[in-house]
Amino acid sequence: MRNGNKKTRHVTKTNKPSDSNTPPKWDPLRRISDNSAEVLKKVDERLDSLEKEYFKDKGDKDGNMGNILGFHGVSRRDFLKWTAVLTSTLMLPYVFRQRVARAANILTRTPFIWLDMSDCMGNTEAFIRTAHPTPAEIILNYVSVDYMESIMAAAGYQAEARRVETIRKHKGKYILVVEGSIPTGLGGKFLTIGAKGETGLKITKEAARDAGIIIAIGNCASYGGIPAASPNPTSAVPVSSVTHRQVINIPACPANPVNVVGTLVEYILVGKAPDLDNLGRPLWAYGGRLHDNCYRRGHFEAGEFVRRWGDEGAKKQYCLYMMGCKGPFTWNNCTTVEYNQDLSFPMRAGHGCIGCSQPAFWDRMSPFEKPNAEAKIFFPAVESTADGFGLGLFGAAGAGIAAHAIYSGVKRERDKHKEGKGKKEEGKDKKE
Ligand code: SF4
Ligand code: F3S
Repeated sequence: MRNGNKKTRHVTKTNKPSDSNTPPKWDPLRRISDNSAEVLKKVDERLDSLEKEYFKDKGDKDGNMGNILGFHGVSRRDFLKWTAVLTSTLMLPYVFRQRVARAANILTRTPFIWLDMSDCMGNTEAFIRTAHPTPAEIILNYVSVDYMESIMAAAGYQAEARRVETIRKHKGKYILVVEGSIPTGLGGKFLTIGAKGETGLKITKEAARDAGIIIAIGNCASYGGIPAASPNPTSAVPVSSVTHRQVINIPACPANPVNVVGTLVEYILVGKAPDLDNLGRPLWAYGGRLHDNCYRRGHFEAGEFVRRWGDEGAKKQYCLYMMGCKGPFTWNNCTTVEYNQDLSFPMRAGHGCIGCSQPAFWDRMSPFEKPNAEAKIFFPAVESTADGFGLGLFGAAGAGIAAHAIYSGVKRERDKHKEGKGKKEEGKDKKE
């Protein structure tokens, strides 16, 4: 095991048994009822009751989201467009669009506890520092964070009292977001927080116990990330390893705000966690492999690869597999949803995927700029979700992708060579 900590569990509790023979199904509505009228009635009742709880009067409710978005220069029209996109991303029928907007509004008032453990704070940074925030980022900026060490005004004992009070007052209702992995070495003493010097381990366990829902945001919280990479000196583990509660993993480095907000919106609508894959990730976001939706895929099939940074292939946006792209072994929606409101993602920016949504990516996917044959990756080559494939699965699949890439590349060179030879001979014939 390359990860030094043998206690690390990467697979979290899922609400769906893993069965490689069953096609993936994610349908938040079927968990409410099979009857569509009944579904709408129940969702509306839930939204009504949450609005009653979190908004004092009607004006307050209607003005909240509008005021926030207006302040950031996002028109009502743009917000509604965004809700339409989120509705389809969540694979909900169009009739849910207004309900998605209401859920996003409610989200800005739902109590949150956001813990920062062992990490670079990249997820927080990504949300609070964007120059042109998307509606998803704006919503995350305005959620009612009752406790967040990195940005809250309160400090010391006052801040800790706030956390304890939020847990007591909103028992079973608050959303717990954890960013970063949890060091467990020396009884957790590698990470102590606050005036009382409590360990991150203790704080996370306490906050997880009474949360309405637990979200592990980013790769470190989901799977240990870089702090848990070999030799894992602090025995860092993912959030799912320190609680018996279900944890929803939203990995990537940083997590895409759309995936975070989408998961939270679905929770507000349905009151339950989304369907998860066997790595604890929402299937609507992580159910597809990057390689299968990549705009460079045609070049992979044609054996057209970038072979050196800045070469002709790079200019023509050929496939980045030979430069180490791990898209064939990574499940996420970066290629379809993209970052910063459809602006870009690693391959569009010209670098291969480094697999930041997968467990132990730092150890398993490196070296990042070499193809997988040298990176010792053992994942399936078939087009499917990650379900049913063990992480330690050694097999022909990973090698199959490498073989395909090498074969198609060699074939292409051979064809080019033949073509060149043919042309030369043709020229000779003409001369004769
Ligand atoms: Fe896209 Fe990477 Fe697959 Fe090439 S190997 S098609 S760049 S995901
Ligand atoms: Fe990460 Fe790969 Fe997406 S590096 S951001 S999973 S393209």
